Amino acid sequence: MSNVINDGKLVSVSRLTMNEMIMPNDTNPIGNLMGGYLMRWMDIACAICAARHCGFQVVTASVDHISFYEPIKLGDVITLTAQVTRAFNTSVEVYVEVSAADLTGDNPRQSNHAYFTFVALDMETGKPTQVPSVIPITTEEKKQYEAAVRRRELRLILAGKLKPENAKELRHFFTDMN
Ligand SMILES: CC(C)(COP(=O)(O)OP(=O)(O)OC[C@H]1O[C@@H](n2cnc3c(N)ncnc32)[C@H](O)[C@@H]1OP(=O)(O)O)[C@@H](O)C(=O)NCCC(=O)NCCS
Repeated sequence: MSNVINDGKLVSVSRLTMNEMIMPNDTNPIGNLMGGYLMRWMDIACAICAARHCGFQVVTASVDHISFYEPIKLGDVITLTAQVTRAFNTSVEVYVEVSAADLTGDNPRQSNHAYFTFVALDMETGKPTQVPSVIPITTEEKKQYEAAVRRRELRLILAGKLKPENAKELRHFFTDMN
């Protein structure tokens, strides 16, 4: 099967896995990975994934909620897996999952996950530019694809870029409440 169909691209084309070993400079005074360093690696993994999908330079437009479920310790190895969920007009949503384990691979655990949104830029004009659509194949990819519309509306409402009354999917959630 071709990876590019009618200007759309399969999720697998840009899926990315990145590993990092936690070194002393990455930790806080109690030997845990600093949250900010983890967010930096998440941003990098997602940005590479988004740029591969879009075929353009991308900038981070927003990051959805991030919780840290498990401490990650000095010497642990983290694995970040990033994949596109859906593209809109000039933006693409990327989902990233982070897991951690000992150097030997023992004690594996899920650490956290997040959704990032990137906007593709045409470097000649500096303006947002059209991106290829995402073609979901697996059941999980299709679930992510369907739900991406609602996540997008929520983040644009929270960013003050979309009026709740103009949201197609979430309008009732905001406007039916007193
Ligand atoms: C992101 C940015 C390009 C959007 O520019 P803009 O003038 O607001 O553009 P528009 O309103 O035309 O929106 C362009 C796209 O961005 C999306 N967008 C804008 N703000 C967003 C936000 N807060 N969250 C998610 N998507 C957002 C819009 O939904 C639109 O997507 P679509 O075309 O797929 O519908 C601009 O705000 C920017 O350059 N921000 C700084 C980015 C940056 O420096 N990031 C950190 C370093 S990489």
